Amino acid sequence: MMGRRWFGMDGRQFASGVLVVSMALLAVPSHAGPKNGVIGVINGGGNPELGKADAKTMCIVCHGADGISPVNGFPDLAGQWPQYLLKELHNFASKKRDDPLAKGTMIDAVKTIHGETEMQDLVAFFSSLAPPKAKPVPTKTKDLAMWKAGKNIFYGGIRATDVPACEACHSATGAGIPPEFPRLAGQNKTYLVEQLTYFHDGTRANDPNGIMRDIAGRLDKQEILALATFIPTLSGGAPTTRLPASQRR
Ligand code: HEC
Ligand code: HEC
Repeated sequence: MMGRRWFGMDGRQFASGVLVVSMALLAVPSHAGPKNGVIGVINGGGNPELGKADAKTMCIVCHGADGISPVNGFPDLAGQWPQYLLKELHNFASKKRDDPLAKGTMIDAVKTIHGETEMQDLVAFFSSLAPPKAKPVPTKTKDLAMWKAGKNIFYGGIRATDVPACEACHSATGAGIPPEFPRLAGQNKTYLVEQLTYFHDGTRANDPNGIMRDIAGRLDKQEILALATFIPTLSGGAPTTRLPASQRR
């Protein structure tokens, strides 16, 4: 995958991204998978039972008891990699992530978490839940065309504007690659549009080396909508960088 063309086309542009990717690949234990148990090992000791009790009073009103958000446009947390969840909570706490939606929601919600141990328990709880299911592929002609356009970008990038394939970092199944690259599979469309737009505008600026700001900065509104139409239909599954063409949905 390092030989993928657009990574090579402008060495400097994506050098930092590629470095992070290769480090992440080295860090993926051979047994890593999105189904948990394994995650308990990676996650470094948070207690999901205690986290569940805390989440009940502090988080589930917005993120759901099963980690699937009842509010359209709020993220599903279920099955997300624990290292990513923990990083985001630290970023909200330090206001490094303070995009327009975070203001008045997470910036306040993190203040209710009492210390690092409680934060790790919450993370252990949400990451242990069954991830969101793949949404059905749209059937209306116009939506299906959007979906196909999104699929092409996800697996092939956009050569003309140097947009890399999303699968390089988020995995061909959308499962992400821990520790840095979050799971996207099954995530809700509205949330994806919001976050890609925030990265595009630079109002979300907590991505390492500005990777996502660089990529989303090259996407226009239609491309963002196309990606947000395709990504929720991904099933997740074990992180992998390439899938045989026959298995790509
Ligand atoms: C008032 C509603 C609300 C409450 C309460 C709330 N959240 Fe959130 N949460 C949000 C919203 C909205 C976002 C997206 C913020 C953004 O756009 O940056 C979010 C984002 C997150 C993210 C980042 C997810 C990602 O994919 O990047 C994490 C982690 C998170 N919340 C955990 C929690 C935890 C743990 C609690 C309980 C202590 C909690 N939230 C309570 C609304 C809420
Ligand atoms: C070079 C690696 C890389 C590539 C390629 C990449 N991403 Fe990302 N992406 C990241 C990283 C790292 C983060 C986590 C940012 C952070 O730490 O908050 C991320 C975060 C995201 C998020 C936010 C997830 C959340 O839960 O809030 C979305 C959405 C996203 N990427 C979509 C995409 C799409 C769509 C593409 C393809 C056009 C893409 N990414 C390509 C590295 C990459």
